[in-house]
Amino acid sequence: MRIVLLGAPGSGKGTQGEILAERLGVRHVASGELLRAHVAAGTELGLTVAESLERGDLVPDDTVIDMVCEAVAAAAAEGGYILDGFPRTRTQAERAYAIAKALGIEPDAAVYLALDDAVARGRLAGRAGGGRIDDADASVIRHRLEVFHANMQPILEFYASLGILVTVDAAQTVVAVTDAILAALPSARA
Ligand code: AP5
Ligand code: MG
Repeated sequence: MRIVLLGAPGSGKGTQGEILAERLGVRHVASGELLRAHVAAGTELGLTVAESLERGDLVPDDTVIDMVCEAVAAAAAEGGYILDGFPRTRTQAERAYAIAKALGIEPDAAVYLALDDAVARGRLAGRAGGGRIDDADASVIRHRLEVFHANMQPILEFYASLGILVTVDAAQTVVAVTDAILAALPSARA
């Protein structure tokens, strides 16, 4: 199973990504986690993206596409992936899809975790103090949500045009969201 998880900051991509990876026996690949690991390790890539992460801005498409495609290909070789946090721009979506398609590892489903900003803000505020630098400041959280809204619609349209977009109400409990995703996956319908 190969799944792309889309949704606002705080919509539960990481939470559901971990659960689904465990349930489906595939790897959870999270672009934000990969970037934060680079920052923590002080790699060359980490040094170039640190400020963007701190401000809640997107890092450049080229940087993230190369990094994610490598991780996704490795996961797919082991049976599949739950990809969380990518794509964030229509360019990322189109370019990564072309690369994946050529390798025969394109996603089976793109799951959109739909959530009101007010709920998302509340969840992220509740997580402040957990160590994420971009959770510490309400203005950065607001900016992350603005960046999300500025980019997401063309991405949803892209996956809808491919016929693989599934939308799930992310305001439910964690368990109910997982159940809704599993019920909507193509294999569950087959
Ligand atoms: P990223 O790491 O992807 O962060 P994000 O999108 O801001 O989202 P979060 O990780 O904060 O939220 P989430 O949806 O994973 O929710 P979670 O499960 O944690 O990106 C960070 C930065 O990296 C970006 O700003 C950018 O700079 C850069 N970046 C990453 N990818 C990039 C890309 N492709 N291109 C360019 N730049 C990129 O849940 C949130 C909280 O809610 C938790 O406390 C959780 O316990 C709780 N919760 C979850 N589900 C529920 C529920 N159902 N009910 C109640 N509480 C819940
Ligand atoms: Mg996350």
